[in-house]
Amino acid sequence: MMTTDSQLITIDDQNLVFHLHNQQISYLFRVIPEIGQLEQLYFGPAIQTPIDYHHLIVRDLRPADNQLTGDYTSSLEHIQQEYPCFGTTDFRQGAYAIKYPDGDYISEFKYQKFEITPGYLNLGELPHARYHDETATTLTITLQDAYSLLQILLHYTISQENAIIIRSTTFRNPDTTTSYHLQRALSFSLDLPDANYDLLHLHGAWAKEMQIERRHLMTGRMAIDSDRGASSHQHNPFLALARPDSTETQGLVYGATLLYSGNFLGQAEVDNYDVTRISLGISPTQFDWLLQPQSEFQTPEAVLTCSQTGLTGMSQAFQNFFCEHVIDQRWVDQPKPILINNWEATYFDFDEAKLLKLAQQAKALDLDLFVLDDGWFGKRDSDNSSLGNWTVDHHKLPAGLSHLASEVNQLGLKFGLWFEPEMISLDTPLAAEHPEWIVGHPQKRRSQGRNQYVLDFSNPDVVSAIFEQMAAILHSAAISYVKWDMNRYISEAFSTYLPAERQGEFYHRYIMGVYHLYHLLITEFPELLIESCAGGGGRFDGGILYYASQGWTSDDTDAVERLKIQYGASMLYPLQSMGSHVSAVPNHQVGRRTPLSTRAAVALFGTFGYELDITKLTATELAEIKAQIQFAKSVQPLIQKGKFYRLASPFTSNRPAWEVYDSETKTGLIGYYQILNPANPSYHRLQLRGLVPTQKYQLTEINLSNNTILSTEEVFGDELQNIGIILNKDYTNKAAEYWQRPQPTDFASRLFQLKTTE
Ligand code: GLA
Repeated sequence: MMTTDSQLITIDDQNLVFHLHNQQISYLFRVIPEIGQLEQLYFGPAIQTPIDYHHLIVRDLRPADNQLTGDYTSSLEHIQQEYPCFGTTDFRQGAYAIKYPDGDYISEFKYQKFEITPGYLNLGELPHARYHDETATTLTITLQDAYSLLQILLHYTISQENAIIIRSTTFRNPDTTTSYHLQRALSFSLDLPDANYDLLHLHGAWAKEMQIERRHLMTGRMAIDSDRGASSHQHNPFLALARPDSTETQGLVYGATLLYSGNFLGQAEVDNYDVTRISLGISPTQFDWLLQPQSEFQTPEAVLTCSQTGLTGMSQAFQNFFCEHVIDQRWVDQPKPILINNWEATYFDFDEAKLLKLAQQAKALDLDLFVLDDGWFGKRDSDNSSLGNWTVDHHKLPAGLSHLASEVNQLGLKFGLWFEPEMISLDTPLAAEHPEWIVGHPQKRRSQGRNQYVLDFSNPDVVSAIFEQMAAILHSAAISYVKWDMNRYISEAFSTYLPAERQGEFYHRYIMGVYHLYHLLITEFPELLIESCAGGGGRFDGGILYYASQGWTSDDTDAVERLKIQYGASMLYPLQSMGSHVSAVPNHQVGRRTPLSTRAAVALFGTFGYELDITKLTATELAEIKAQIQFAKSVQPLIQKGKFYRLASPFTSNRPAWEVYDSETKTGLIGYYQILNPANPSYHRLQLRGLVPTQKYQLTEINLSNNTILSTEEVFGDELQNIGIILNKDYTNKAAEYWQRPQPTDFASRLFQLKTTE
């Protein structure tokens, strides 16, 4: 057997068996010699390269089905494939569909060659894995169509570091004369040999994103998707297949996500023989890409992981990967500014004096960044006006933005500004001048959402025009942060810029236009920190994180709700990507009153900030906030670098808890919450995870109200992991305290810190 052996990819050149492997995972497939198609052999926890692979092949005799070569065993319906096509004997959903000039969809792509290249793929402005990783290696398999010159290139990247395989596909048309319609182009497909899995995914709606749902697979299809023009509040582009007996800490779990912010489809299809096909990629709804002569279409990258340590292993693999290979490295290790945003403090009702009062107070509290949200431009006193008219409202800000920014700067704070670049209100000069730039058919219904319309970002002129307006503002004042919002989905999609035969390209071109504007902004303003937002978490995904290193996780700022939202988001996204703010009570979304300390104790596990009128607080509250900010600054490196452990779920427990632990500095932070306060409570212990068993730690309970220590003790790591933190008090000989103890409350929280003592 001849072999080609890069460190991470072993290839049996003769039998064309490909094995991608690192210490954690293995991915194995081969070329079926008789038909030249790719057969999936194994994806899972690491195995050595098999001595032989023949025993991995199963073919049962199923005479009732269609056969590719006249042989009972040649039905593709019964072969686990790598990148299947619907119809050529396989009746499950395919990964791609090409419409040929005769109107048929009959493809026959066969193995042609492989190539190994070092590093990750560079996909230009399409978000992709990046940054130096000397072990990263990419295997590209070229498939050649039997009926045309079309080629499919399947890319697989693996590196030593993470239990991650990155998959994507390039469709190449080398023909000089003929065009083809690409009508389905998923990023990957994977056939697993059984169906004993739960499907876990994140769903929601505005102000209740990232809700975890876990259901056992059924025969047939279970799908999540978005056809809204953005990845959406409704479904996150992520799915996991978990063995039913797998838990947070143990068992087999597969995870898949997309580095993409537009329409997507993710699904698990179980056939009648219990084979599970999972796939993820651009949504095929209304997708029709004209693959012109000598052109290519590149799918977004899908990121796959496999964990043997339950959901934690999956989440940590994704979180590491996002921090190391997706998020802009300039922001990954740098402390993020702790901000105050005026939205829930003032809404549209502000003037310079009011803002500066907020900023002064913010400085007194030692905040870093003052963010001016919606309402500073055009004549925007409510949400029905002025989007697309990015000129300062001189009624509210007579001295202009540069004056406001410099006043804020002089106070010692950075200044940030809200934009909603993709939107347009009909009362703007832009809408009058360029009605054709609005998404929709000029002679048909155009629905509005939040009183606004969407600009046609598939048209490069529109992107340039918005960039020019934004650049003028960003040059005019010292602005170091932008909150890029997007508050409605696209319906009645139509672009006056695209010819009829290219309308099916609209949604993808739109999101590429969004990425292009991000690219232009970052290039022109390299110091700019951008926070993405889409009515909260309507576009919180791996694609947007490539450009905006933090995202506003949800418009719901209630601490209890945020426990679920942030816990759900942590399934794959790192804490440092989740914007999380302390806001007022009663909370503006749910009317709940939670203690200030709990609001902070939840928001601390994210990119921390404030969003309330800090000029209307009592001296006690202000002192408390000052203490919180001081504490937040001290734990920021931990939040950015530490590993995240979910200890108890807010979806199932009245006492959710989580932990961040940095194995380098051997420091940790633990948040423990009690939603409702039970009478006569039971005993509770909180077992920690990820510690060094023999390490002596100082376990300190922090009083966030004044940043003081409530208690401290020295404990070994194994004790904290096996016995846990004892959460009840020992009242021996203190019976009288029953009458003096502080009244227990609902929505309580406790914070513990771990430090090494040697
Ligand atoms: C959206 C955002 C909010 C705020 C408003 C402003 O709802 O998610 O944070 O910026 O828009 O209109």
